[in-house]
Amino acid sequence: MEPSDRTDQARTRITKLVFPQDTNPLGTLYGGTALQWMDEVAFLAATRFARRQVVTVSMDRVDFKVPIPQGSIVELVGDIIRVGRTSMVVQVRILLEDAMVGTQELAIEGNLVMVAVDQDMKPAAL
Ligand SMILES: CC(C)(COP(=O)(O)OP(=O)(O)OC[C@H]1O[C@@H](n2cnc3c(N)ncnc32)[C@H](O)[C@@H]1OP(=O)(O)O)[C@@H](O)C(=O)NCCC(=O)NCCS
Repeated sequence: MEPSDRTDQARTRITKLVFPQDTNPLGTLYGGTALQWMDEVAFLAATRFARRQVVTVSMDRVDFKVPIPQGSIVELVGDIIRVGRTSMVVQVRILLEDAMVGTQELAIEGNLVMVAVDQDMKPAAL
């Protein structure tokens, strides 16, 4: 399979509803919850690309651009943007959707580095 096909097939989207337990005292999406969701999307995208077990080795800068109110629909999108020998950089975006109109705006963005590992938890070539 061509690398670009693998990248296309690895793209991962998850749609979520922001419940009260996902929020901070201001009633907007809690940053720690957002990071957990981002790690999940990155894990899924990297696993689809590698078709191996993967672990998170680094979470790069994450920008919180727009607050996300309770009750919002959000879509997380994970894309493989760089591939090394054993590592992959996954760009994760959280898009805030206007439920009545259908438009989306970029609310949170960050890159995570995932590494493919073998059964001994040693880095494994992709
Ligand atoms: C992931 C792990 C196996 C890598 O081991 P390591 O000894 O650092 O391995 P290497 O130095 O050979 O690095 C492996 C790859 O990871 C990359 N890497 C390692 N540390 C990195 C970091 N902090 N940031 C970005 N990339 C990193 C290396 O550049 C290399 O990439 P490449 O093979 O594409 O060139 C090890 O660090 C580990 O087990 N970490 C804990 C993972 C974990 O528990 N995650 C949370 C739960 S999923």
